[in-house]
Amino acid sequence: MISKATIDKVYETARLEEVIGDFVQLKKSGSNFKGLSPFSDERTPSFMVSPVKQIWKDFSSGKGGNVVAFLMEHEHFTYPEAIKYLAKKYNIEIEETERSDEQKLEADERESMYLVSEYAQKYFSEMLWETTLGKAIGLSYFKERGFTDEIIKKFGLGYCLDQWDGFTKAALDKGYQLDFLEKTGLTIVKEDTAQPGNKRMFDRFKGRVMFPIHSMSGRVLGFGGRILANDKKAAKYQNSPESDIYHKSKVLYGIYFAKQAIAKEDNCYLVEGYTDVIQLHQRGILNVVASSGTALSPEQIRLINRLTKNITVLFDGDAAGLRASLRGIDLILEQGMNVKVCTFPEGEDPDSFAKNNELEEIIIYLEQNAKDFIQFKASLLMSEAANDPIKRADTVRDIVNSISKIPDHIQKEIYIQECAQIMNISEAVLFSTLAQIGKKEQVEATKKAQQDQKAFEVVRHDNLAEKVDIQQVHEREILKILLQYGMKTDNFLEFYYETNDQGELEMVKNEVCRKVAEKIYLELQEDEIEFADPKFREAYNILIESLINNENIDFSSWIGNLPKEISETVVDLDMNENKYELDDWERRNIFVKSKASEVVLRVSQTITSIRLKLINDLIGGIADTLQKDDGVGPTQEQWDDLKNYNELKKNLAERNGLVIKHFG
Ligand code: CTP
Ligand code: MN
Repeated sequence: MISKATIDKVYETARLEEVIGDFVQLKKSGSNFKGLSPFSDERTPSFMVSPVKQIWKDFSSGKGGNVVAFLMEHEHFTYPEAIKYLAKKYNIEIEETERSDEQKLEADERESMYLVSEYAQKYFSEMLWETTLGKAIGLSYFKERGFTDEIIKKFGLGYCLDQWDGFTKAALDKGYQLDFLEKTGLTIVKEDTAQPGNKRMFDRFKGRVMFPIHSMSGRVLGFGGRILANDKKAAKYQNSPESDIYHKSKVLYGIYFAKQAIAKEDNCYLVEGYTDVIQLHQRGILNVVASSGTALSPEQIRLINRLTKNITVLFDGDAAGLRASLRGIDLILEQGMNVKVCTFPEGEDPDSFAKNNELEEIIIYLEQNAKDFIQFKASLLMSEAANDPIKRADTVRDIVNSISKIPDHIQKEIYIQECAQIMNISEAVLFSTLAQIGKKEQVEATKKAQQDQKAFEVVRHDNLAEKVDIQQVHEREILKILLQYGMKTDNFLEFYYETNDQGELEMVKNEVCRKVAEKIYLELQEDEIEFADPKFREAYNILIESLINNENIDFSSWIGNLPKEISETVVDLDMNENKYELDDWERRNIFVKSKASEVVLRVSQTITSIRLKLINDLIGGIADTLQKDDGVGPTQEQWDDLKNYNELKKNLAERNGLVIKHFG
């Protein structure tokens, strides 16, 4: 178990905007930061981060919370994983409340798989650097490829000795369980055919140089192992199998080392292989990742899309694979990204090109040869189909199909015009092809929209019901005020009654300075008003207690300690308050008035409204019983109540008027 002191220290030290900034490109927006949601494919930012409160809210998915909640959602960490990640990031030493072997075993499965992978990475590195065979075979191989010591260490490269189970034995000796060695694929377990019932263990990566694959946050998820011999039968690379921690389609090789540079350069180079990434990186081009030999998956594109809108695909020199690779790029267009492509001279790939040229030369080459994808594709296909009318028709459809994926209409139109020129064909033909493709998709989209509509109607119905619940609206407002201004003090107007010289009761007003939370508490207490919504009631009780009893609360850790449901309610309320900053209102010359100056009025207004609502309910109740014509008529008591309530209403209105006049 991680000690409470460590957890507190982590919360104190971690800056949410820094932590999230490692994953999402954030821009300052008023007092908040905003960026593209890392949980959806949106194109306009609706992801908000409050540096003051240390909470975040994603309006596209509805998720939100503190720094730990972010890591749990985004990296799929467990709570201890998230704390450990933060401790590592901020160099906080983790204090464990006694960590026995037993607890090591108990640690949850995924964590065990991470640990075993981390151990394997260290082990393979050690073999590379410290053993005679490792140095002679593995290290000299990397050196031959031109890798420096520094880059080998940075990427954590290693070597798995050419023994059947050297690694597996070492790991078992260290207390790692076979179960996790097998689940991560590091060890292959087989039934012994000679002695049935007996298990035999093999190192998957026997005799290979090792490329660890890191997550966006730098944890080792799996490995690629390259064979050294020129054995035509064995696959050049062995990769870790899919597992609970390694999903091939959700990982990009090198993303951990590239993410900052991608955001900074606002461009991402995409290559095919491990060695391409490392070689470019070594030359000083840091914003590069690899798809690891397969077409990009939508999830991988999304990883990049969070960091930049611009992607440049670097192709190997051989033209053979080029045509097939072009198809995959439509997926990138679909996500609204700008795609460029760059090819290398025949026989070269990014790896060899980077190895054989200086940084300056590489940069110039990339600048001069990176071409807009659509233009590139149009020229390439046209040159192939120049004299073949049937092929030409296919080509036209192919290109227009790519263009149809682009979400932006203006961009679409520009591309149609450009392609018409490149392909020497009329714009009208291209536009009508586009329309045909559009129609087909429209039919499908309409079907889907009809389904969505049905679902939406159900939701809208619920929303309507919610609106009618005025009480809930007030309760929500009170919580919002508490969250935003609870700790602040301000001058409020209070009323009490005095007997004047004539012996009559007279209302006296008095300005008092109070904590906002205290004021709300006192007012609600006076009428014994209880929140009707159970979630809000619990949030209110917790909030009021902390706000009144503390000089200052660390909002982020406070939220972290609430039950999940309550913390979600709270974050939701708080961030919804800030939502107006998302809209581009200022550009439309609509200025949002600062609500801080109105806090006193808001408190007064809300409390008055709640009281009014309660009184109206009471009056309504009496009116209902009077309606039932049972021939008895209203009792004196009922008349008195009605009169009192109406008096109270007048009084409330009067007080409210006084407050407005006093401060307005
Ligand atoms: N790959 C793979 N399995 C293979 C071949 C390739 O998983 N049998 C993946 C690897 O991720 C590899 C990428 O596809 O990095 C690109 O393949 P290739 O260009 O053949 O490998 P390189 O990384 O360029 O390796 P090298 O330069 O050592 O040949
Ligand atoms: Mn290659």
